[in-house]
Amino acid sequence: MAKPLLSVLLISATLFAQHTAPPLRELAESRGMRIGAAVNPGALKNEAAYAGALAREFNQLEPENAAKFGPIHPQQDTYNFDPVDLQVAFAKAHQMAVRGHTLVWHNQNPAWLTGGTFTPVQLSEILQKHIQAVVGRYAGQIYAWDVVNEALNDDGTLRKTIWSGSPGYIEQAFRWARAADPKALLFYNDFGAEGINAKSDAIYQMAKDFKTRGVPIDGIGLQMHLTSRPVPIAGMEANIQRITDLGLQVQYTELDVRLPVESGKAADDALATQAGIYHDVVALCVKFKLCTAIQTWGFTDKYSWIPGRFRGMGAALVFDADYQSKAAYRSIASALTGERPNTR
Ligand code: XIL
Repeated sequence: MAKPLLSVLLISATLFAQHTAPPLRELAESRGMRIGAAVNPGALKNEAAYAGALAREFNQLEPENAAKFGPIHPQQDTYNFDPVDLQVAFAKAHQMAVRGHTLVWHNQNPAWLTGGTFTPVQLSEILQKHIQAVVGRYAGQIYAWDVVNEALNDDGTLRKTIWSGSPGYIEQAFRWARAADPKALLFYNDFGAEGINAKSDAIYQMAKDFKTRGVPIDGIGLQMHLTSRPVPIAGMEANIQRITDLGLQVQYTELDVRLPVESGKAADDALATQAGIYHDVVALCVKFKLCTAIQTWGFTDKYSWIPGRFRGMGAALVFDADYQSKAAYRSIASALTGERPNTR
């Protein structure tokens, strides 16, 4: 007799806890921070559970693909703004800020661009027009842009891309973005540059040089695509410290922690390790006044880029495929509730 009653009580207690625990966005707001997620437009349109969780938990969103060069500028004289417009409208309706991603990248460029024969001068004109059109359209609506994404190699040298033939293209892109929306925060965004290494050294030197010469830059985006291997927290802290010492913001832009999965499921111990990693990186950001946003790359394991990109991996986000919050969700909540000394 006692047992079924007990489980009923336990189940109602769990449901009750889920309904009364403050959503992540409330915790982030009390810290003066943004908590965001990259958005899958199909799910946003068609799944009430997706849209509901996004609006309930997050005070920031970012189109995962829709604002990239190819999707938003499919022909030389055609822009496809509708998908981004829809996400901007959703954000407005739910008091969420919007990050823009991304203006200059080597991936997801349209065929007219990659297959064309343009001189460096023409390419630079194309890029300037693109930035004017896209940043200009969302001026006042997109508060921060990843102006340039992944322009450096792991050894810190400049990546050879369609853009790198135009000398100074990175700083030019920042200048054009500033001109198109003087109020938007402008970020350089990259992966594998969270701790101290050749790439993060090069990013730091570039940002320092930009600050010295008056090239408009406001922050560095750390993508944070992590695995269950131990995270070099001390190196990450030193890196965030030196970036914020320049007066620049840091934002985590694409946080996820991928795990080995079988039929989409990760092992319990891996999920516990994952929760620990989420806790530690969020707690690290919370330490810095200038670490202003934490964004995950999606929010439900149902729509994550990981299984499509890393074979045998998945379960990288904080809600499972049925929109149930995971241990990683609770560790973000607890890290956001911890102290924010605001001393640096
Ligand atoms: C990924 C998207 O998640 C996928 O849907 C798409 O197929 C490829 O791009 N770094 C970035 C993101 O800056 O834009 C990438 O997003 C993931 C890696």
